[in-house]
Amino acid sequence: MAFPKQIRVVEVGPRDGLQNEPEPIDTATKLELIDRLGAAGIRHIEAASFVSPRWVPQMADHREVMTGLTHRPGVVYSALTPNLKGLEAALECGAEEVAVFGAASEAFSQKNINCSIAESLQRFEPVLKRAKAANVRVRGYVSCVLGCPYEGEITPAKVADVSKALYDMGCYEVSLGDTIGTGTPLKAKRMIEAVSREIPMDKLAAHFHDTYGQALANLYAVLEEGISVIDSSVAGLGGCPYAKGASGNVASEDVVYLLDGLGIETGIDLNKLAGTGTWVTQAIGRPNRSKVGVAMAAK
Ligand code: HMG
Ligand code: MG
Repeated sequence: MAFPKQIRVVEVGPRDGLQNEPEPIDTATKLELIDRLGAAGIRHIEAASFVSPRWVPQMADHREVMTGLTHRPGVVYSALTPNLKGLEAALECGAEEVAVFGAASEAFSQKNINCSIAESLQRFEPVLKRAKAANVRVRGYVSCVLGCPYEGEITPAKVADVSKALYDMGCYEVSLGDTIGTGTPLKAKRMIEAVSREIPMDKLAAHFHDTYGQALANLYAVLEEGISVIDSSVAGLGGCPYAKGASGNVASEDVVYLLDGLGIETGIDLNKLAGTGTWVTQAIGRPNRSKVGVAMAAK
């Protein structure tokens, strides 16, 4: 199959990238990160997470972030909202898009959002209803699509079931999370094939963490299947607080370099993006996990 001409990159660095950082990061740094990402040409930025500050302290300034960011024309700024309480707060802050997040693993669902998969889907129903009434689009995440830190193997059929439930509920797009980055290309292809029998391919996104160094290979594999939305995090920042040892998302710079090489448009300025990766890793005292970012900074 031919590759898509264009790919939408969803930058999750300000949320997924920072949520697991143990030391407080000041709101001003988060806001500068979001602004620099927009200036680099990213059109979709997941900026914050309206979750319990007891569960994820680093996201406690969600209100300040969402109300403090400078809206660039054409850029969507979204936030995670696990329940109605989170959604109401996000709406008060003017969020124009939100995301609910479920899992294809029962154990992960319990650890991450303190309820079963079935309970989570019930909880999301009123979130979707309320968001729709407010004209706010809802994205759906499914975690553990290529393996779970607690249950191990997860079948593609289970991923397809949960994805379909989110799509049928009204999520405009379902983002498939390899939360612990254990996937490999053939497994990723099989999973996408199973899910795309239930949901149109253009309503799916790949959200791959790079813990085992496979994320770019897995992305190439699912691009061949027809995926045209990719989640990534500048400098490969991140990790999930409820998936021990899981490292960051695939680095945005590496994704853009790959796509540039394939002649696929993203609208993103790689130099500016790499500069943002260098800046943010220095600002928060973290290593830059983008190979492209490190190589470009060394030139
Ligand atoms: P719970 O304890 O079952 O909730 O947590 P509850 O309804 O019983 O409420 C308990 C307390 O939390 C109450 O406060 C609520 O007000 C408060 P108290 O009366 O005890 O002072 N509360 C909230 N506060 C702020 N915002 C809210 C909210 N809701 C309740 N929205 C809950 C359930 C879902 C809230 C909790 O489990 C939680 O916050 N989990 C978030 C976990 C998380 O953020 N994980 C990381 C994001 S997911 C991810 O990274 C994966 C992804 O990247 C894809 C992938 O890679 O796979 C998306
Ligand atoms: Mg993630």
